[in-house]
Amino acid sequence: MGKKKMIHKNEIKEAVRRHYGEIAAQAKGEGAASCCPASSCCTPEEACSAEALYSPEDLAGLPSSVTEVTLGCGNPTAIAGLKPGEVVLDLGSGGGIDLFLAAQKVGPTGKAIGLDMTQEMIDLAKKNARKVRVQNVEFHLGEMEDMPLEDESIDVIISNCVINLSPDKDRVFAEAYRVLKPGGRMVISDLVAEGDLPPAVRRSMEAWVGCVAGALDKREYLEKIEAAGFIDLKTRVGGSPVEERAGADIYLRVVHIDVEAYKPA
Ligand SMILES: C[S@@+](CC[C@H](N)C(=O)[O-])C[C@H]1O[C@@H](n2cnc3c(N)ncnc32)[C@H](O)[C@@H]1O
Repeated sequence: MGKKKMIHKNEIKEAVRRHYGEIAAQAKGEGAASCCPASSCCTPEEACSAEALYSPEDLAGLPSSVTEVTLGCGNPTAIAGLKPGEVVLDLGSGGGIDLFLAAQKVGPTGKAIGLDMTQEMIDLAKKNARKVRVQNVEFHLGEMEDMPLEDESIDVIISNCVINLSPDKDRVFAEAYRVLKPGGRMVISDLVAEGDLPPAVRRSMEAWVGCVAGALDKREYLEKIEAAGFIDLKTRVGGSPVEERAGADIYLRVVHIDVEAYKPA
């Protein structure tokens, strides 16, 4: 038996950054964007289209350069109960769709902050923000495992199909807890596994960047959130396009989850 090669955390980060950088760079060429490349978090294409994830009201007023780059698996702003005046942080904000929806909901007295580790995504989201003419957004280039944000500065954290991409989810949840104000909430859409994924899948870089290899077992994922200090967890599993990826057994074990969790007041 040959020795199995372990993947280093930094290799995963670099592969993820390169992959999403390429998607963002493609999206910059008008009409050239392939919103759902074969190894993105959301295949097949029709299941991850903006129309499949978002309501017509959500999409009204958003230009195609925003709606074409939807790489998520849920619609966190639809379930986050955002209120005027709140400060929202979107982890892995990508092309900005959830950020712009959050900005509308919190209004001019609130703020929506996008954090993404890929420079090309930040550039794309800034360009999109100018098109959407949204004022109350702010962008930070940085990693969610080491957020460039003050302690207790955020009311609500949202994230859409990003945390599975992290090789260090304990750090992500610890950082989320640190930056949230007491009583603040985290409302995230992500992918988790139901049961074991084959070891070869866990070691595949293509499966990492495609949001499969990093999908933790559902129970482990929720335990990590609780271990970071979050309470009152509410979850909803399923309804995901991922479950419908017919033909590939492994995809049947990776499902969409929405989680709402609170930092104690
Ligand atoms: C699957 S896309 C989702 C983008 C967006 N949330 C959406 O729904 O369209 C993942 C995004 O997360 C970013 N990302 C991945 N790992 C990250 C990390 N550790 N820290 C910050 N951003 C990260 C990527 O650069 C990419 O823009």
